[in-house]
Amino acid sequence: MDKIEQKIKNKICQANKEYYTYEVAQGFEDTIYNTKLHLLFDEIKKNLHKEDNKVIEIGCGSGRITKFLYKQEKIKQIYCLDLSENMLKVLKSKLNQEELKKAFFICEDATNYFRRCQNKFDIIIISSALHHIYDYLELLNFCSQKLNERGFIYIYDEPLPINHNGYLNRLISYWDMSFNEERRLRKYCYFIYGLINFISPIFKIKFFRKIKKKLQDDEEGGKYIDYWAYKKEKINLNKIMEIFEKNEIKIIRCEKYTGDYSTKLSSKIANFFKIKDVFYLVGAKEN
Ligand SMILES: C[S@@+](CC[C@H](N)C(=O)[O-])C[C@H]1O[C@@H](n2cnc3c(N)ncnc32)[C@H](O)[C@@H]1O
Repeated sequence: MDKIEQKIKNKICQANKEYYTYEVAQGFEDTIYNTKLHLLFDEIKKNLHKEDNKVIEIGCGSGRITKFLYKQEKIKQIYCLDLSENMLKVLKSKLNQEELKKAFFICEDATNYFRRCQNKFDIIIISSALHHIYDYLELLNFCSQKLNERGFIYIYDEPLPINHNGYLNRLISYWDMSFNEERRLRKYCYFIYGLINFISPIFKIKFFRKIKKKLQDDEEGGKYIDYWAYKKEKINLNKIMEIFEKNEIKIIRCEKYTGDYSTKLSSKIANFFKIKDVFYLVGAKEN
């Protein structure tokens, strides 16, 4: 990775750290949508061949999936990896004493961890996190090498490039976003701020400048947490499959879906037009 790329990567990591604060972490499970979680859970249960599986969840967040893993008797060690200390804090608070005995917490960038990692795993899970990782192909290459024989890798993520109905998807996403409480609130704040500034220059005092800066910072954080804001290309399934093939990982499931939107109506429209922007991929290391 050259100097410029390293700089971009650092910026994305920083944006993620700022975005996934304690407040976001606390209410996180209610805001994220992935209605396909049952697929992941069923598949994991089916594939627990050993009695003492070692699992890592990359970008585990506040533990939506990790909680399920702790309930599986055949899973003896769970590595919870996330860049955000706050997300891990919330996850820890959800675990009881017994569960904590199985847990290992790693607060680090995923690729950096895997670059120096000595462990091997029976299961690797990456759910709704890959799009935050600038060097995701490099990460998946490392992950493939750290998978035990008969081990599994599960990836659920978005967004995929959308070809024939790209503009329609953008339109629906934009419209859908206007229903997002936080965004709407921010728009109002900007409006009020503008109004005050317009009415009287006297209000251009430090306090209001601070509010504006905060609003801008929030916006930046939200905008640049995804790697493709820089790369201008979305997750490339073909390249992921090439990496798996090179490392003798057999694809046992690869499906594309319509993602979930904030409102039922936008989800219905996206479904109607068959906008497939998320994917679910399962690979298995052959004997
Ligand atoms: C959308 S959340 C998904 C959380 C969880 N996997 C779930 O499905 O509920 C993405 C998570 O990825 C983490 N993340 C972002 N960049 C990362 C990186 N470079 N390395 C490790 N984790 C990262 C974030 O801190 C956040 O907790």
